[in-house]
Amino acid sequence: MTQLPSVCIIGAGSSGIAAAKALHERGIPFECFEKSDRVGGNWVFGNKNGMSAAYRSLHINTSRRRMEYSDFPMPESYPDFPHHSHIADYFDRYVDHFGFRDRIVFETGVERAERRPDGLWTVALDTGETRRYDALIVANGHHWDPRWPEPAYPGSFDGEQSHAHHYVDNRPFEGRRVLVVGIGNSAMDIAVETSFVSERTILSARRGAYVLPKYIFGRPLDEIGVNRFTGAVPWAVRKRVLGALYRVGVGKVEDYGLPTPDHGIGEAHPTISADFLNRLAHGEMTYKPAISRLEGGSVRFEDGTTEEVDAIVWCTGYKVTFPFFDERLISAPDNDLPLFRRVFHPSIDNVFFVGLLQPLGAVMPLSEAQGRWIAAHLRGEYALPDPAALAQDIERERRAMFTRYVASKRHTMQVDFDTYLWALGRELRAGAKRMRERGFALPIEPRAAAGAGAAEAEAGAPS
Ligand SMILES: Cc1cc2nc3c(=O)[nH]c(=O)nc-3n(C[C@H](O)[C@H](O)[C@H](O)COP(=O)(O)OP(=O)(O)OC[C@H]3O[C@@H](n4cnc5c(N)ncnc54)[C@H](O)[C@@H]3O)c2cc1C
Ligand SMILES: NC(=O)c1ccc[n+]([C@@H]2O[C@H](COP(=O)([O-])OP(=O)(O)OC[C@H]3O[C@@H](n4cnc5c(N)ncnc54)[C@H](OP(=O)(O)O)[C@@H]3O)[C@@H](O)[C@H]2O)c1
Repeated sequence: MTQLPSVCIIGAGSSGIAAAKALHERGIPFECFEKSDRVGGNWVFGNKNGMSAAYRSLHINTSRRRMEYSDFPMPESYPDFPHHSHIADYFDRYVDHFGFRDRIVFETGVERAERRPDGLWTVALDTGETRRYDALIVANGHHWDPRWPEPAYPGSFDGEQSHAHHYVDNRPFEGRRVLVVGIGNSAMDIAVETSFVSERTILSARRGAYVLPKYIFGRPLDEIGVNRFTGAVPWAVRKRVLGALYRVGVGKVEDYGLPTPDHGIGEAHPTISADFLNRLAHGEMTYKPAISRLEGGSVRFEDGTTEEVDAIVWCTGYKVTFPFFDERLISAPDNDLPLFRRVFHPSIDNVFFVGLLQPLGAVMPLSEAQGRWIAAHLRGEYALPDPAALAQDIERERRAMFTRYVASKRHTMQVDFDTYLWALGRELRAGAKRMRERGFALPIEPRAAAGAGAAEAEAGAPS
């Protein structure tokens, strides 16, 4: 039997477990390291790893049928938009159902991942151990390192400031004057919740948004018009359909007191809320434009008005970071890390990324497809395009994304759910053909050791 390369997976969130399952079912030796005592990452409320952004009331905003893995449906008893506890439980059962829990090393963080001169990876764990692998899969998540306003707003603020990442529930905001900053999904959920208990909730955003409902015509919005050909439909056509649905189902955001968005529908990461527009319409929340200055107990906005504020919740997004890499080797300044179809690094052949994307739609089926793709590659069933074609593909994809989306650090790795899956299917077939033409060979040679991760001491320290 051909020996296969050994793999280290960093993280057992929904992306890491999808990758682990793909390697497990293809017989590829691997070890998956997880800081926490359980799988599920962000979806584990109060996660021991201290990295989860889940708040007490969090429900998914992509419907469950669009979020579930293709071969493990969520129970029919689940609602369309389940609570985080349902979702965390689902991930837990996935691991047992496919039988790879024993391949996950819990309560063990990867502190450093170094690429040796011979190309193997040396992985240093927080237990003090060091192991080496032929390949690395990075699935450490990208919604755990809070981004505070950069640069900070001028002036100073005397009240309390927190980031959405640390929001748990609305109790600390009872009877207070709260300013929520941003118009992404964290801002939606948090502003709605504080508006029920605060003396006043104000939402400040530097641009408008098409706030999408969860349902339209009685069905989850992300399920409407979806079939196996959706991915082949050009974005221009889908944009027209989405725009028409929005006009009929919601109307104009200006009528709810929001500014006219400076972009078209689908040209910003979707902001989804069933309640936000209602709270504005009920007068229980007020919109303000961007902040111009913090003035002690009050905040001045760009329209020249000021508001007295006790607490600011910055819902200003997240930074993409890999604390275990030397940032001269791999980093994502301003959240930007160019990759081939969000998986393959253009110049390092044995590092792969899973879940490092922002879909219009759910992440999990995409992570699942990425895991299968990497497994096919590691087994010698898929060959990458030649380096020039690969670089061109990355460039083409980036140009299309940056042209379509509003310039913002949140729009550096956007993909359309169905288009991505459809294109990946085509790419897999093209890569299988390339592999046949080149003559089957493992793209990553198994050199680290027999079995997954060998103790580094056996081979000597990395040079
Ligand atoms: C509030 C909120 C709501 C969201 N809602 C949705 C939604 O409705 N639908 C959707 O599709 N997406 C949603 N997302 C996006 C979210 O990123 C994904 O749902 C999902 O959590 C991505 O999974 P992941 O495995 O990539 O990352 P994570 O869930 O962040 O998991 C990463 C895992 O890696 C582990 N890890 C990290 N570093 C190390 C290390 N050095 N060593 C060992 N282990 C490590 C962590 O402990 C963690 O378990 C939401 C995000 C947020 C913040
Ligand atoms: N219920 C749910 O399922 C749920 C809930 C919360 C979050 N999420 C997901 O979690 C991820 C993160 O969402 P998020 O809302 O935390 O972050 P996000 O999508 O990155 O949004 C950040 C928001 O903050 C704004 N912003 C950034 N810097 C700013 C600054 N200096 N001043 C003013 N505004 C600033 C951005 O505006 P610009 O556009 O101008 O940059 C944007 O409106 C997303 O994938 C989201 O879908 C899901």
